[in-house]
Amino acid sequence: MGKVVYFHGFVLEALMLLLAVHFVLSSDGLDNMSMSKHNLSTISKKLKLLNPPAVKSFKSADGDTINCVELYKQPAFNHPALRNHTIQMKPSPGSTGPTIQKQNSPRLKVVSQVWKRSGSCPKGTVPIRKIKKADLLRAGSLDRFGRKNPTVADESRRNKNIYADQTNGSNPIRRVNDIYFTQANHSTAVLVTEGFSYSGAKADINVWMPSVEWDDEYTTGQIWLRNGPWYNFESMEAGWMINPSVYGDRQPRLFVYWTADSSKETGCFDLLCSGFVQTSEKIALGSVMDPVSWPGPYQYQITLYIYKDFDTNNWWLQYGNDVNIGYWPAELFSSLCHQATFVEWGGQVYSSRIGKAPHTATGMGSGQTLRTFGYGCYIRQIRIRDNNLILKYPVWVDTYTDEYNCYHAFNNWEYMIDPEFYFGGPGRSPVCP
Ligand SMILES: *[C@@H]1O[C@H](CO)[C@@H](O)[C@H](O)[C@H]1NC(C)=O
Ligand SMILES: *[C@@H]1O[C@H](CO)[C@@H](O)[C@H](O)[C@H]1NC(C)=O
Ligand SMILES: *[C@@H]1O[C@H](CO)[C@@H](O)[C@H](O)[C@H]1NC(C)=O
Ligand SMILES: *[C@@H]1O[C@H](CO)[C@@H](O)[C@H](O)[C@H]1NC(C)=O
Repeated sequence: MGKVVYFHGFVLEALMLLLAVHFVLSSDGLDNMSMSKHNLSTISKKLKLLNPPAVKSFKSADGDTINCVELYKQPAFNHPALRNHTIQMKPSPGSTGPTIQKQNSPRLKVVSQVWKRSGSCPKGTVPIRKIKKADLLRAGSLDRFGRKNPTVADESRRNKNIYADQTNGSNPIRRVNDIYFTQANHSTAVLVTEGFSYSGAKADINVWMPSVEWDDEYTTGQIWLRNGPWYNFESMEAGWMINPSVYGDRQPRLFVYWTADSSKETGCFDLLCSGFVQTSEKIALGSVMDPVSWPGPYQYQITLYIYKDFDTNNWWLQYGNDVNIGYWPAELFSSLCHQATFVEWGGQVYSSRIGKAPHTATGMGSGQTLRTFGYGCYIRQIRIRDNNLILKYPVWVDTYTDEYNCYHAFNNWEYMIDPEFYFGGPGRSPVCP
């Protein structure tokens, strides 16, 4: 399915299209056009970086190839700041804190990854999704493959559409800091907390498959931990995402992301640049998740917990209640390696058709604005960890949405022992023209 998508991509410049056709016509791509040669050598160099030598390799039913790569050969160690990095194989004793909160409801199911049905990786290796030539050709530029565009505030939309729980009549209460900036080409619907020093954040997110209208758009359900002002923030993110330009299809995949400069020069998704260090052989970043939630009584969810290891200042990502996938090394950040100053849970749609008519029809969450279990995309068991290492529901939270007519954000806290946050929507609709 993913293979043909890029031929329809409208973003390809004429040159890239030519090149793509060229690849199909002559599979080794040897040719005397100097332009192509240049590109071919940069493409194969990039592929070499992204696909380190594997000790074992197998095809997964979802079309991906999984490479089992020796721990020390993973892309992270190409990072100049990680030249002398000593890999941390597991969290320091006590750093996880008391986290296990098992839920026994039969209505809650755990999502798994498709590739695991086709094989496994030996200990001492990590499963890395193989990047194909076609993946790189789909990217507008090789340098920006797997990365976000730099964060730009959209002043024309700034604060116009704020719909928060805290309103004063019809006027949203403007907050003094910068978290409520409106990011160009992005629409966000989140639960936010700030005002403390955070050393961890956790939640259960159910996984859906909302539609993504165009190949250059994406939609997420995720957790963010951030530090710094909008024009130069540091961020660690994890969740599920449908992103045709990075992954070549429209299936929800587990992703991680980081940046140390609001996505200007640093950071990327998964292991698509050097940064995140993976330690687990059990989970593949960027891999398809299945089954996903459908309207009905059973909901498929992931549990993610990002937490700081106080001995090393690395930030671990835990999946479920026991798999530590890996960590963001302290060396990547300057302020975020000490603490996060705000945490968000929710969704984001990226499209150049945000805040314009016609609006993108890319959905967020379940693609519905329903606020009930079984129909909406939820975030449950929302927890933060402060410096006391205690996981707890945040003292203060607020909901925020860029375009409340398109994507809602609703915190269901009345009469609830443990509040549940619902977010999402269909995008374009009669109320979101
Ligand atoms: C292909 O090569 C040209 C000429 O060197 C360069 O400008 C262009 O950015 C390259 N394309 C990619 C995808 O790197
Ligand atoms: C790595 O270690 C060498 C030798 O001790 C040192 O010169 C170099 O600056 C270190 N590099 C980093 C990125 O810390
Ligand atoms: C709410 O709005 C009224 C009238 O505009 C204003 O006097 C009052 O100070 C506002 N309250 C807050 C908390 O912003
Ligand atoms: C938004 O997307 C459009 C189309 O891709 C692009 O031309 C524009 O530069 C983007 N705006 C910002 C601020 O990134």
